[in-house]
Amino acid sequence: MRFRPLRSSTKETPTVTVADPPARMRAVVFDETGAPDVLHSSSVPVPSPVISELLVRVVAAGVNPIDAKTRAGRGVAQAISQYPTVPGFDFSGIVVSSPYEAHAFPAGTEVYGMLPYPRSGGSYAEYAVVPTLSVARKPASLSHVEAAGVPLAALTAWGLVVETAHAHEGQRVLIHAGSGGVGHFAVQFAAYFGAHVTVTASGRNAPWLRELGASVVIDYTTTRFDEVVTDMDVVIDLVGNVAADTGSRSVKVLRPGGLYILVPTGSWPGYAAAADAAGVRATSYKVVPDGSALATIGRLLDSGSVQVYIDKVFDLGDAAAAHAELEAGHTRGKIVLRVSDD
Ligand SMILES: NC(=O)c1ccc[n+]([C@@H]2O[C@H](COP(=O)([O-])OP(=O)(O)OC[C@H]3O[C@@H](n4cnc5c(N)ncnc54)[C@H](OP(=O)(O)O)[C@@H]3O)[C@@H](O)[C@H]2O)c1
Repeated sequence: MRFRPLRSSTKETPTVTVADPPARMRAVVFDETGAPDVLHSSSVPVPSPVISELLVRVVAAGVNPIDAKTRAGRGVAQAISQYPTVPGFDFSGIVVSSPYEAHAFPAGTEVYGMLPYPRSGGSYAEYAVVPTLSVARKPASLSHVEAAGVPLAALTAWGLVVETAHAHEGQRVLIHAGSGGVGHFAVQFAAYFGAHVTVTASGRNAPWLRELGASVVIDYTTTRFDEVVTDMDVVIDLVGNVAADTGSRSVKVLRPGGLYILVPTGSWPGYAAAADAAGVRATSYKVVPDGSALATIGRLLDSGSVQVYIDKVFDLGDAAAAHAELEAGHTRGKIVLRVSDD
């Protein structure tokens, strides 16, 4: 068998020319953990990829609660190896350099993805380095701002709903905080696979969540969910015991042997013993960057089966305001930072 030379014709493999990256870039950094105002703009070196990584010019960066928790000294702050440090996991942008000529994501490809977690991040910047296996082609129907709102939240929702709960026709799922970044994807994935979806959210979000596929929306500000639901197969808990004993009440609304999934790390250290006492199964969950899952999610987005909702867009330099907004706790869908022009 003869192999065709990869560069036999410039017509077959058009060369995409992308300008060499500069030595330094604009980024948002913090020099110490603290309140949102520790975030400030700075000039830092452009990171260098190793052979299994891509260098990406970031057009937009998604904002997640883990960014704010880490900035505040919690979250993955222990993974910060040096200051100043650039926060952020989510990005959408354009490949500047890739490992070899015939790589699936050559220079010029529009990609979206998630930086390694639980390392300390780095997407609030004009350039980021990311493992090739943690990215997928940007969904063609989405802008970079929209795509940047997807990776961490949708991968978490996918891991919870598809890989952990094995969502299927008729499965009875309760999702707490269905209106947030993770929640709005979890609602749509569970409904897509035929589950009967019950959600807790505030009343203002109820019509929107029904449009996304929720069958029942419980206004957590007026109604105790454990007084109106029972016999759930799965509870996806995006709140935990940090608010109104949400976790403790959740294990009580599961059928015997049902599955409780705790998502916010550390929000309820006693969950396993409480689940055991209630006769239900329990697990925590940690998101894993996964380019192939992102490719699948991208197809669902492009087909219109799933949508991303962008609540607010801030300029990169206004990252502190974006964190303050997120920490108010009432984001619908996602907050995104615009880093550069497309
Ligand atoms: N372990 C992991 O790998 C992992 C991955 C992703 C996220 N997380 C964690 O999971 C949690 C959710 O993340 P996220 O990105 O979805 O957060 P988010 O977007 O900031 O969530 C905001 C939403 O939460 C709703 N909410 C607040 N308190 C609520 C309550 N008591 N009951 C029901 N809904 C409530 C708000 O609704 P209203 O405006 O209506 O109040 C708002 O829409 C965070 O703690 C995050 O750190 C963990």
